[in-house]
Amino acid sequence: MSVTSKPQGGTRKIATLDTLSESQIRAIRSIPPHDKAGIVRKVATRPTSMFLDEGYFAREQHAVFKRLPVPVAPSNMLAQPGSVLGHDGYGVPLILTRDREGRVHAFVNACRHKGSKIVETCEPFKAGRVTCPYHAWTYALDGRLAALPREEMFPGIRKEDHGLVELKSREAGGLIWVQLGREAAEDFSTVEDELVADLDALGIGESFPYGRKTFELAANWKLVLEPFLEGYHVQRLHSQSIGQLFADVPSAVHRIGPHTRQVSGKANFEPAMLDVPGENIHKTITHAYQIFPNTVVVTSPYYISLMIIMPRGVDRSIVDYYMLTPTPPDNPTAQDLYARSYELILKVFGTEDFRAAEISQSGLSTGVIDQMIYGGLEVSIPEYYRTLESYLGINDPA
Ligand code: FES
Ligand SMILES: [Fe+2]
Repeated sequence: MSVTSKPQGGTRKIATLDTLSESQIRAIRSIPPHDKAGIVRKVATRPTSMFLDEGYFAREQHAVFKRLPVPVAPSNMLAQPGSVLGHDGYGVPLILTRDREGRVHAFVNACRHKGSKIVETCEPFKAGRVTCPYHAWTYALDGRLAALPREEMFPGIRKEDHGLVELKSREAGGLIWVQLGREAAEDFSTVEDELVADLDALGIGESFPYGRKTFELAANWKLVLEPFLEGYHVQRLHSQSIGQLFADVPSAVHRIGPHTRQVSGKANFEPAMLDVPGENIHKTITHAYQIFPNTVVVTSPYYISLMIIMPRGVDRSIVDYYMLTPTPPDNPTAQDLYARSYELILKVFGTEDFRAAEISQSGLSTGVIDQMIYGGLEVSIPEYYRTLESYLGINDPA
């Protein structure tokens, strides 16, 4: 079940520093000028088996993905009551709905008659009910079995006992979170208030879902996540695209429960820029969140990138990339800006970051590399793994 919310879909104006949360403002104010940024002399390692071993993957599935709430989609994919969205990314077929009262639900996409998938598309649509294509059993958006043809042929069947199977869900920070394991005890404690306040300040829930693209990658999900936890690669891997926009210095990193927030000044950053009235803060500062376990939020001057990285096998992942904009593209300037931004960001993430994950997997799969080595510009990666390992019951790591 979930909290009532009615996202408006793209009504935000320019974000200035004072529109951010107190915690974000504190973090941004702590960023030193680039020439005062410290050097982090630190090396950590991890065994490469964590990207190759089926047993490790199974433990992650059991202790993390089937237990903790995971983001499934932004709220704006179900913007209005009566919205329906099929979702297959995690390998658990889901139907997400927003019922008449505005409550979000997550159901297993399986008919109570003979298990058939009910919603076959992953494109959002509006409907009063959903109907199974096989024999037309029909369900209300709160999951109740509303009707079945030739009901007299099913003596003794009580409709109220044959609603869709519902998973525990919650809507917070503009995201829909679901506990994918049906047996998992209800626990949304990792959906931290401070994180939700940050995401609300960024306007995720009020944003417009300008673009969505699904990537199927031949890489372990953690290799897909890693570049979003470090700045070391930015001037190298992205040398032909966005590399020069960023400085080669450590980000200011804060942990929010199991989550990570990194804030960094753009290449030309000076702290005095923060006090220019009315300035779009996203031009000066980049926020990068790693929402535990598998979701990334990155801010850009005119849009926000949301990536949900879904493990499908030890060397296979699916990424739903969403470009969220503060307004719909309702004028030629916005249309042009958003279209160019979308093209650029798909190129940067798709052909640079995601490709890096795939070529890492390819090299690791040779078996000749025993350990990953993380340096001072990559310290957030082993920090993140410490959290993951704590859920997996591993205490030892370097
Ligand atoms: S399987 Fe759905 S109505 Fe028969
Ligand atoms: Fe990158």
